[in-house]
Amino acid sequence: MIKRFFPLLMAALLAASCGTTQSPQDKLTVNDKKIDQIIAQMTLEEKVNMLHSKTNMSSAGVERLGIADMHYADGPFGIREEGVPNGFQSAGWKLDSATYFPTGSALAATWSREMAYLYGTGMGTEARLRGKDVILGPAVNIQRLPVGGRTYEYLSEDPILSAALSLQYTLGVQDKGTAVCIKHFAVNNQETNRGSVDAQIDERTLREIYLKPFESAVVEGGAMSVMPAYNKVNGDYCSENEHLLNEILRGEWGFKGFTVSDWGGTHSTMGAMLHGLNVQMTGSNYLGQPVIDSIATGALTEALVDEKVKQILRVRYAIEAIPDDVANTKMTSQPECQDIAKQVAEKSIVLLKNQGGVLPIAKSVKKIAVIGQNAVLKTQSGGMGAGVKALYEVTPLEGICKRAGADVEVKYAPGYKNFPGRRWGPPSATVDPLVASAIDEAADPDLCAEAVALAQEADLVIFFGGTNKSIETEGSDRQNIDLPTGQNEVVAALAAANPNLVTVLISGGPTDLRQLEPVSPAIVQGWWNGTEGGTALAEVLFGDIAPSGKLPFTFPAKLEDSPAYALGNFPDKTQGGDLFTLMYRQDRTRMSREEIQEMMAKMPKPVSKYTEGSLVGYRWYDTKNVKPMYAFGHGLSYVDFEYGAVKASAKKDVVKVTFNLTNKGGMTADEVVQLYVARPEATVEWPSKELKAFDRVTLAAGETKTVTLEIPVKDLRYWNVDKNAWDLEHGKLVLLLGAASDDIRQQAEVTI
Ligand code: GLC
Repeated sequence: MIKRFFPLLMAALLAASCGTTQSPQDKLTVNDKKIDQIIAQMTLEEKVNMLHSKTNMSSAGVERLGIADMHYADGPFGIREEGVPNGFQSAGWKLDSATYFPTGSALAATWSREMAYLYGTGMGTEARLRGKDVILGPAVNIQRLPVGGRTYEYLSEDPILSAALSLQYTLGVQDKGTAVCIKHFAVNNQETNRGSVDAQIDERTLREIYLKPFESAVVEGGAMSVMPAYNKVNGDYCSENEHLLNEILRGEWGFKGFTVSDWGGTHSTMGAMLHGLNVQMTGSNYLGQPVIDSIATGALTEALVDEKVKQILRVRYAIEAIPDDVANTKMTSQPECQDIAKQVAEKSIVLLKNQGGVLPIAKSVKKIAVIGQNAVLKTQSGGMGAGVKALYEVTPLEGICKRAGADVEVKYAPGYKNFPGRRWGPPSATVDPLVASAIDEAADPDLCAEAVALAQEADLVIFFGGTNKSIETEGSDRQNIDLPTGQNEVVAALAAANPNLVTVLISGGPTDLRQLEPVSPAIVQGWWNGTEGGTALAEVLFGDIAPSGKLPFTFPAKLEDSPAYALGNFPDKTQGGDLFTLMYRQDRTRMSREEIQEMMAKMPKPVSKYTEGSLVGYRWYDTKNVKPMYAFGHGLSYVDFEYGAVKASAKKDVVKVTFNLTNKGGMTADEVVQLYVARPEATVEWPSKELKAFDRVTLAAGETKTVTLEIPVKDLRYWNVDKNAWDLEHGKLVLLLGAASDDIRQQAEVTI
């Protein structure tokens, strides 16, 4: 596998050798002459037909000219099962069971460019088997809110980590001949009122934080399509946002592909046509006949339609169309992809706490009590667009039982009730003793007693807590980050019964551990970890591999400490403000366009103010000296690492640090080394420190490696709002090298 970590460098070297500098985006223009000739043969109707959905997951080509339809598939953690032509309901196919890859925050917890690239190749491979041209992913929005419904889908609270992994995922997918559709562009950080909320954000924060993951995928990765988000940014819907789509995406970043709205996220004909949208998904009430009518009246030009069709055809001709009789003729999930899912899962697991060396499980342990429904519930489905019909999924309990073997007795008890999230219909008539009627329902005494009885007889108790994909999901934010259905009481009872206790959190975002942390000697963040998640978890718990994941976001001590809450910017108290997509879909409502416009005019206008600026995540907690429960970048191992003294240098284009890293333990282990930057003398305002480089290093027991981390000077710039351009402030940099944002081991100073 050729490492694809420095695509620009490689492209530049290649180009230099043959005298041309072709950016990853420019590659999409190689067929432009041919495309112009083809467009000249197309009727206006054929062109406009390409600007909107054909089915729920396709947009039209031109059969007469041999141009294939464009087929889309959700991601971003597995190629979604086939839906019916006009909806998301399952088509009931047999060969579309896919590999369920670890979710976004789990991938990010690997802090591994290599894993992100491999992940992308796995997704691209299985998309091709399904005849899909475009994967609706990666989802790379910054995790601004601990309660965010899609925090688990996204990568990190930090732009550098998000950007690095977004780039590699993009390269991996597109190297396998499938296009990414990077989403949701942009500033899509809450589900509350997601269909209409106006994210009001200053330009510097927008550039330095929220656009970074998109910029790297587009400019360095050559992302071929982009999905504008449902929300507004500074007053304009993303699907018709001149600043985002034309000025930045196409103007500054040189994007040559096409944009496809989120499903139901198109809001007008003129806005979409004039401000950067190529394809309306779904429906044609905006980019269908109204476009033809607008050309007839002179409000729009056919040349504008031609430009949009050209952008679509650039991708069409970059991606091989898979014939219907070839697609879906093999089982989607492939062994090599299942192995990738396992590798990612193994590197994602974060050991948050390990007091007294409770982990790894000692050989003397012969009786294990596994408590908690999250040990047996599958996590592949749920989460609307991000659900996967997996060929198989190894649950934590299955993984533990398989790994424990015959000479270790493993017993299970549910421990607490599961909360299946919001109901779309009336509560079910039958009462399921393992299902709670409310998320904050107290612990069930019988379930708790049953669990305690098991704990009392065991050598080790493993409690599986956390949330589920109905609680953390697209379409709604959590009300809080509390552990649901009385889990805290259950853990306390288990700890009283047996102090040899390990907690494994099966969740996507952070949870409130103030009650659990004092009573659980070991705590592991196990994520929603894909098809082989149970296997990987067992390998870590039994010590076959050392844990090496690092938190991609902060676990705040309490939700109120997080920036948007602390500043009163969230939750959004506007009720009824979410004119979600259905309202816009004339093909779904009986309201006329005028009636919808009239209703809209009366609707409250939800707003989300980003007054915390760039102080998102650890930038806030560090700068405001608010101690989190577990810091960004935190993650323990079964070995200790020694960081040698740093040699630092600053050249015109790059700042470099070199140091020796030693594995002081008795087993091979990975360490994610992190380099932060502080600017104590800057005149421009900065967070107290920012991540600027990182790498994952594998060391055998006792091994020492010399590690070099590089910060491109361009990554040290700030967005100068007066110049409306990137700018560099010269001066002293303090380089902080460590194992976590709150665990700095060495530092050095340079001047740039
Ligand atoms: C959803 C999501 C988007 C998904 C699309 C198609 O509403 O916002 O991420 O790709 O619709 O399912």
